[in-house]
Amino acid sequence: MQLLVPASKATDQSPTSSMLGFFKRDSLWVNFLKDFQVCSLSPTTHRAIKLITKKIQLNQVQKLIELGPGNGVITESLLSEMPTNSKIFAFERNIPLCSSLENTIKDPRLITFNSCASKVKQKLAAQIGEIDTIISCVPLSVCGDVIARQVIQTSFEMLKPQGLFIVYQCYLPPILPSKNLIDSLRNKFSIEGQERVLRNFPPLAVLTCRKVV
Ligand SMILES: C[S@@+](CC[C@H](N)C(=O)[O-])C[C@H]1O[C@@H](n2cnc3c(N)ncnc32)[C@H](O)[C@@H]1O
Repeated sequence: MQLLVPASKATDQSPTSSMLGFFKRDSLWVNFLKDFQVCSLSPTTHRAIKLITKKIQLNQVQKLIELGPGNGVITESLLSEMPTNSKIFAFERNIPLCSSLENTIKDPRLITFNSCASKVKQKLAAQIGEIDTIISCVPLSVCGDVIARQVIQTSFEMLKPQGLFIVYQCYLPPILPSKNLIDSLRNKFSIEGQERVLRNFPPLAVLTCRKVV
């Protein structure tokens, strides 16, 4: 089981504080028990974070949207490599996780919204311009067709041409992300990669999609 704190802070923790972290109110599994849409028991592992972040030329990203940041394991990794004048717009619908994210990562480049990922367009003013990259960990296979469709459509509209839409989500082997989800992504994007990370709990599927226009 992973530590339930952002990855960069996990390394210098004693076993006792790790155990306490496991029971923290803002841990994923505690919130999962109250809100099944959290859809995970532990944060994404270092291995999966590396796989995801190495797909993006982070030092050239100016604007990135993160959907479903949870308590911010990937957010921290992204910020550590993004330019000083860049921005991450993070959309997290779970209130305790969103508060935890705001309280843990004090970085002016991070702008959080306690909002559903399907509301990105309404929340971000039209003048924000094109987005370089969108990363989504929203459980698109289980959040319902309407939300999944809106997230995919909005992501397509907001991304710059050639922009990356990286969708990663937990799955239960041998049940892979639904064919419907992959078909919906393929309708809009060119799917450049479909990977699985088994050393994650639960395992992750990572879909790398590009806006080709
Ligand atoms: C599997 S967790 C991933 C957390 C974190 N990104 C990580 O990699 O460890 C999925 C996250 O998506 C959030 N989420 C689920 N549905 C959402 C929605 N419709 N809009 C925004 N966030 C959502 C959950 O609350 C949860 O924090």
